[in-house]
Amino acid sequence: MASSIVSIINCRPAQGPAAGRIDSPNPSRLADVVAEVALADAATFAAACAAAKQAQQLWADIPAPIRGRTVAAMGRIVEANKESLARLVTRELSKPYTEALGEVQEIIDTCDFFLGEGRRLYGQTVPSEMPDKQLFTFRVPVGTVAVVTAGNFPVAVPSWYLVPALVTGNTVVWKPAEYAAASAMALFELLQAAGLPEGVLNIVFADGPATFRGLEQALAAGTLDKIGFTGSTAVGARIGELAGRYLQSPCLELGGKNPMVVTPNADLRLAVEGALFSGFGTAGQRCTSLGTVIVHESVHDEFLAQFGAAVSAAAVGDPAAEVLYGPMLDQKFASRFEEYLGWIQPHHKILGSSAVGRIGRASPRAGFIGDPEAGLFYHPTIVDGVQADDALFQQETFGPIVSVTTYTGFADAIALANAPGYGLSASIYTNDPREVFGFRRGVSAGMLSVNNSTSGAEAHLPFGGNGKSGNGSRQSGIWVLDQFTRWQAMNWDYSGHLQKAQMDVTEIAADLDFRLKA
Ligand code: UN1
Repeated sequence: MASSIVSIINCRPAQGPAAGRIDSPNPSRLADVVAEVALADAATFAAACAAAKQAQQLWADIPAPIRGRTVAAMGRIVEANKESLARLVTRELSKPYTEALGEVQEIIDTCDFFLGEGRRLYGQTVPSEMPDKQLFTFRVPVGTVAVVTAGNFPVAVPSWYLVPALVTGNTVVWKPAEYAAASAMALFELLQAAGLPEGVLNIVFADGPATFRGLEQALAAGTLDKIGFTGSTAVGARIGELAGRYLQSPCLELGGKNPMVVTPNADLRLAVEGALFSGFGTAGQRCTSLGTVIVHESVHDEFLAQFGAAVSAAAVGDPAAEVLYGPMLDQKFASRFEEYLGWIQPHHKILGSSAVGRIGRASPRAGFIGDPEAGLFYHPTIVDGVQADDALFQQETFGPIVSVTTYTGFADAIALANAPGYGLSASIYTNDPREVFGFRRGVSAGMLSVNNSTSGAEAHLPFGGNGKSGNGSRQSGIWVLDQFTRWQAMNWDYSGHLQKAQMDVTEIAADLDFRLKA
């Protein structure tokens, strides 16, 4: 049964004219339509921002500890619905069920972290340089926030924005990915059940162009104060440009070409396990997915043999079964993935499966679970012999494909890790502390792993990237507070007369020529 989904503004179905409809199908059984979604136009998006603007002051006036209690309730409600939300994520996005449970857990973890923030949101008391005067700092909400999210983490990554934005007193318009509409609507309903007042959280379904125009209209109208965006580098750059025109800095979480360096003294078994999980888990559709293994030439053959064997043996197919990964999330990712496969060149060597491309009757995969023809299933592909000027080395390739290249000196490994110009997540397998800290100093990524894969970040460490992976903004933990609040400084002079900073300041005379007797 498909659910029928419309945008919700001010707790009511959106009034604006529908700008078309789309279906959100189950990508492992395309005939199973999970939701029929009515898309909103740009004016409706802008109307949602106006509604959020209207509601913001009242929400900010609710004492922060009470907003924290609301976040506590959100966590409990999500926890009580953990299995049904995970089942929906598995049905709509075909994430293996255990992964979907992990994704829901990430929302609960985020609520656990931020429920206490309502009782902190610390400012500082700061001494003044003059008597009878006190200095203070306060965190103030930014205002209204538009959150535009991808569907590869249809509920966890949105919660990284929504929960801290709400606890700090902002109101939100959330635009989820259309192909994840049912999961998004379920999360919206769960958060709303915590008792959010009208207009505090709004959800709008719209395609990319309508969203962009809606953002533009809201920025021009002064009803939008911050944009949070998770998605491609190309769209992130356009959003950054748009926000910059209004002197805003968006929170951008973009793509990655995440490297894994495997050194001569690495535990190869561990490295292979990490490469398998981060390269092919979620069918390589995480922003933290492994892009290129940069393996020392002396262990290349052994690593490749083990990695190839592990990938060949991995179970692919029906996400309800015990599989490493299921299908591509949506037709658009499947089509783009086929383009990336076109970047394979004659100097490359392919491993990992019996064929390259879509799995089907004409191109079967040994051990496939389920009916490959029913969904968007692709062979896992390891491409060895990749060189630094290959497109496969330089560009993000969202999907089940991992490149392998070699290095000789450690400095080359670092240069290769940085070369594509992304900077989200990077991992090293080594047992040499000099290599660990050399890697930390040399690699430009926002997140590093040692003897662990590139994906699987915990929900309370700063998450985000540099270069083509983002503008340096960080989500999660205490660090995201700087995205959703601004520092306000206050000074209070109770001396009864004007004391001028830097000028009316007492000086204690020091004898700067004083020297100890030799
Ligand atoms: C993403 O792909 O946008 O670190 C986020 C990880 C997950 C989050 C990925 N916890 O792999």
